[in-house]
Amino acid sequence: MIAPSILSADFARLGEEVEKVIAAGADVVHFDVMDNHYVPNLTFGSMICQALRDYGVTAPIDVHLMVSPVDSMIEQFLKAGASIITFHPEATQHVDRSLQLIKDGGADCGLVLNPATPLHYLDYVMDKVDQILLMSVNPGFGGQAFIDSTLKKIEAVREMITLSGRNIRLEVDGGIKASNIRAAAEAGADMFVAGSAIFNQPDYRQAIDAMRAELAL
Ligand code: DX5
Ligand code: ZN
Repeated sequence: MIAPSILSADFARLGEEVEKVIAAGADVVHFDVMDNHYVPNLTFGSMICQALRDYGVTAPIDVHLMVSPVDSMIEQFLKAGASIITFHPEATQHVDRSLQLIKDGGADCGLVLNPATPLHYLDYVMDKVDQILLMSVNPGFGGQAFIDSTLKKIEAVREMITLSGRNIRLEVDGGIKASNIRAAAEAGADMFVAGSAIFNQPDYRQAIDAMRAELAL
């Protein structure tokens, strides 16, 4: 699955941008929520998610919460039409409760781990998460370079998923482009966030096709 991050879209024309990227073959809209507290940048909240739904966007919206605290944002995004909500476990006091809040609201839930965050956060929630997101850059900004040590981490999480016997999606986020998407897929990722590599290109379809071609090799 290809999940374009609208962080790199033209915010002044967001509805059109999302329509365009879905028409270009995107599977999911990746929605980066930053609060200038958990991460040193500020983006958009649930009102923008609701606005996209009202505009007619029916594609799944994958909300990546880079906020602290998280529970009030989870409630707002459930109401605003989020399909998937992930958050960073160190940003909430009660990880299991926050996951359950998402599930009870009818959305898919998941944890996000930063490049240096240990995998043990996953140990007791493998029976609950629908998705695991591994950051391959430090969160806060688009357009950063992929951190190579993430590949080993993807392999380790893929093993944990296999052991769990559950069909948990493994998403990778940060610095993904056509030249490295294959390495991430071979390590075990099956959902790929790409912001600048899609929205900074003149032709979104061409950018997405180039990634799919690498995945099909
Ligand atoms: C970073 C965000 C990413 C970011 C990816 O904090 O979580 O989703 O937009 O952007 P690129 O693909 O440009 O690294
Ligand atoms: Zn993200």
